Amino acid sequence: MPEARAPGEAEAANRLMRLAKEIARHDMLYHDQDAPEISDADYDALVRENRALEERFPHLVRADSPSKRLGAAPTGALAKITHARPMLSLDNAFSDEEVREFVARVRRFLSLPADEAVALTAEPKIDGLSCSLRYENGKLVLAATRGDGAVGEDVTPNVRTIADIPQQLSGAPAVLEVRGEVYMSKADFAALNERQEAAGGKIFANPRNAAAGSLRQKDAGITAARPLRFLAHGWGELSEPLAATQMAAMQRIASFGIPVSNLLQRCDGVDQALDHYRAIEHARADLPFDIDGVVYKVDRLDWQERLGFVARAPRWGLAHKFPAEKAETTLEAIDIQVGRTGKLTPVGRLKPVGVGGVMVANVTLHNRDEIERLGLRVGDRVRIQRAGDVIPQVVENLTREEPRQAFVFPDHCPMCDSEAVAEEGEVDVRCTGGLICPAQRFERLRHFVSRGALDIEGLGEKSIAEFIELGWLHSPADIFRLRRHRADLLGREGWKEKSVDNLLAAIEAKRAPDGPRFLFGLGIRHVGIVTARDLLKCFGTVEELRRASEAEGGQAELSGVQGVGPVVAEALVDFFHEEHNRTALDDLLSEVRPAPYVSDARQTEWTGKTIVFTGSLETMSRDEAKAQAERLGARAAGSVSAKTDLVVAGPGAGSKLKKAEELGVRVVNEAEWAEIVAGA
Ligand code: IVH
Repeated sequence: MPEARAPGEAEAANRLMRLAKEIARHDMLYHDQDAPEISDADYDALVRENRALEERFPHLVRADSPSKRLGAAPTGALAKITHARPMLSLDNAFSDEEVREFVARVRRFLSLPADEAVALTAEPKIDGLSCSLRYENGKLVLAATRGDGAVGEDVTPNVRTIADIPQQLSGAPAVLEVRGEVYMSKADFAALNERQEAAGGKIFANPRNAAAGSLRQKDAGITAARPLRFLAHGWGELSEPLAATQMAAMQRIASFGIPVSNLLQRCDGVDQALDHYRAIEHARADLPFDIDGVVYKVDRLDWQERLGFVARAPRWGLAHKFPAEKAETTLEAIDIQVGRTGKLTPVGRLKPVGVGGVMVANVTLHNRDEIERLGLRVGDRVRIQRAGDVIPQVVENLTREEPRQAFVFPDHCPMCDSEAVAEEGEVDVRCTGGLICPAQRFERLRHFVSRGALDIEGLGEKSIAEFIELGWLHSPADIFRLRRHRADLLGREGWKEKSVDNLLAAIEAKRAPDGPRFLFGLGIRHVGIVTARDLLKCFGTVEELRRASEAEGGQAELSGVQGVGPVVAEALVDFFHEEHNRTALDDLLSEVRPAPYVSDARQTEWTGKTIVFTGSLETMSRDEAKAQAERLGARAAGSVSAKTDLVVAGPGAGSKLKKAEELGVRVVNEAEWAEIVAGA
């Protein structure tokens, strides 16, 4: 946890990079694939961690920072729509205290006198997907999903099939954008899944995903066949104000014939608002649709205007989330799933039980330690909880004192039978069968041909997936045998003589790959391209490295290599210890001959010096520049410090150049660098 320990700047930059990637992935899973992997609470924690780090280190805010985005930009086939006014999100609260704090913040911001009441509206937070409906002169002209908040997807034809949404309004302003949630009722969701199951179609995890999947269809005919509903909760662009308060504005929207929740209420102050929260919480199970909290909004619109927004959310609104729902059931089995990175994840199979209106039959058990922490065994009674709309979790083992056979976490991969190990200090157990494990096959092959590794042009994700499907690709060696399938490939859709021959030529061109790239391509844990180079600098060939890794005491020898520590050494020993990997590597080496690594570093005045490249380089790639530095015996580093000896700055160089100047580090341009290289 970042709060527990103050991170240094480098650590923060690293963490921000990982958070940006991770949050983007979860946004994509949630918004594009309607298949979230983590709970809303866990997602919020990531966003909060990101925000806290950015506040501490404002100069480290990344161009791709999650705080500059909302959700995932849509990637599907629907046309993109830029919202006239951005569609924002809400901050969350989980306790009465946080709600009171919200109102106190509003008061402070507006400098209200103590006796001035802050009226709020309170209404259910519907678990659907937000949608903006644009009416011009009373006619529905455009409907868009939220997308990333700035740009959404055009779902106009789809929305026209929703009976709740009028096509025509009377008495409305010339421009009126109504915003609200498209959702599916619990009953309609259950019936839809039954129909889907009977027809062998996709089963939706929950009503929200069903609504999203139904609305975001290229073919509006499919949407029409799905029972979608709509409830308004606000507005976007307006040609004239609707009213002076939130409540009155919503009443006007209702008067146009657009559905508004009948649980929307105006409250004189925070106490009344909290009372209404409890009333809605009480009504929750009987409501025909899923809700996950209550939304409060400052009632006076002139105050909303003054309060404005911070980053993703308005200062005048708050979502008060319900606590996770709990239920008790029996753990009937523990299965192990193998992820694409080889991680073994235990999944609990339950006697199905209803939690907050949804039947739950599976829970994630996270990892080996979690099973141990809860003392879980097959047959235990467990308390589970479901937060938001994602995978439920076990929170308590109710029968841990009862005698029962302990669960033994496998030490072999259930997919490929390779050894499965947890590294020192790590909770995740991973399959070591990298090259041959079917669960990891796609990722591994993709990595093997990627730009940093063998760099086989034209062998992209789609082709890899296609060839795996055809049974042509099992391990990397098969890539070099694809030419045997030339005739079959020519008969397939999307493949022409030219594209097939280009691909086969690109593969042939890599029969004598660069040694470090080849080693890196094997995907051994912790062996990045730099480590691969360090290893081959010492061992020359992959075969030699393998001999060292397999030898008695090899781990110690490996640990001693410059740039290699015990973690890498252990990963190498594990990798080469695995029979499957040895076979796959032998097979691969029967097809390709990686060039032995010849160290061409010379003793120069630059030997042992540290060089940083920044800005854009025009005559060479960054990899090449780094290789040049290494040939001079220097080290290419990523950041400027007092230890930096030289900075090579191209156009557009920014903070690193500034820092170098501040520290008095010598700075040269690309042409001067070329002279240094030539003269050294
Ligand atoms: S008001 C400026 N009211 O929750 C923010 N949102 O977590 C306006 N939602 O994007 C949102 N029910 O999709 C509002 N009664 C309600 C809502 C609601 C569901 C969704 C909405 C929003 C998200 C924020």
